[in-house]
Amino acid sequence: MRKKLVIGNLKMNPVTSAEFERYLDLLEKETGNKKFEKTEIVVCPPVVYLQKLLDRELKNIKAGAQNVYWEYQGAYTGEISAGMVKSAGANYAIVGHSERRKYFDEKEEIINLKLKSILKSGLNAILCVGESMEERKGGRTATVLKKQVKDSLAGIGAGKVEYISIAYEPIWAVGTDELPTSDEILEAKLIVKKALAEMYSMKTMEKIRLLYGGNVKSYLVNQVCTDPAMDGVLVGRESLEPYEFVKIAKIIDES
Ligand code: 13P
Repeated sequence: MRKKLVIGNLKMNPVTSAEFERYLDLLEKETGNKKFEKTEIVVCPPVVYLQKLLDRELKNIKAGAQNVYWEYQGAYTGEISAGMVKSAGANYAIVGHSERRKYFDEKEEIINLKLKSILKSGLNAILCVGESMEERKGGRTATVLKKQVKDSLAGIGAGKVEYISIAYEPIWAVGTDELPTSDEILEAKLIVKKALAEMYSMKTMEKIRLLYGGNVKSYLVNQVCTDPAMDGVLVGRESLEPYEFVKIAKIIDES
C-alpha cells in the first residue's frame, strides 16, 4: 500500500539546540504511543539538528533535509550534498521551495540539478511547485505550474519517478492565513498530473505522490485533503507544534 506523507518543514527554527531537544521530547510524547497505518511522518529540521533527530530513533518519524547542493563533494564552502544527508541516515530532501526560489534565486535549472543529485544519492525528493498571487490573478497558474514541473523533471527517467513527491504550495498561501479552496487545489493537482502525463506513461505518473502545502492547520486539513487521491501535506508553522503536527498526521492517517 502506498503511504500518505505528512512532512514538517521547520524552516530556520528553532533557534537553540536546547529548544530543539524540547521539541524532540514533545514529538516523542505525541507519536511514541500512536500507530500510523497509512502515513509516513517526516521532519525536516535545520541541517545542524538533523543528527540529533536521527539519534533519537523516534518510532514513527523519518528525517529529511530542507535543501542540498547538487555536487557530490568538493570545495563548495557552506554546502551539504545529498549523499551526506543520505549517509547520516535521513530519507528525504525538499527541493524547489518557494522561499529558496525567492530568497536564493533558485531557478528550475538549479532545481533540476538538485533533484537529480537527490535521486542519485538514494534519497526521496519532495519537489515544491506553486504560483504567486500575481500569476494567479493574471490567469497564468497553469502555465507556471506546468513549466515548473517540466523543467524541474527534465531528463529524469521513469525508473526514478517513484521516489519523487510533488507538493503544490501556492506562494500566496505559504506563511499566510490564505487557503485555496478544495476546487483550486484539485485544479492545480490536475494541471500537475497533465504535465506529468505529457512526460511519462500513466502508470509511471501514478507513482508520483501529490501533496498540498501552505497554511495547513489541523482544523483545515480536511479542506486541503478532501480529495481521496491527495497523498498528504507539507506543513510549515504547525510542524513547530508537535501536538498540532501529529494531530494533522492522525487525521490524514484515519481519513
Ligand atoms: P506554512 O504551513 O507555515 O504556511 O508553510 C508552508 C510551507 O512552506 C511548507 O513547506
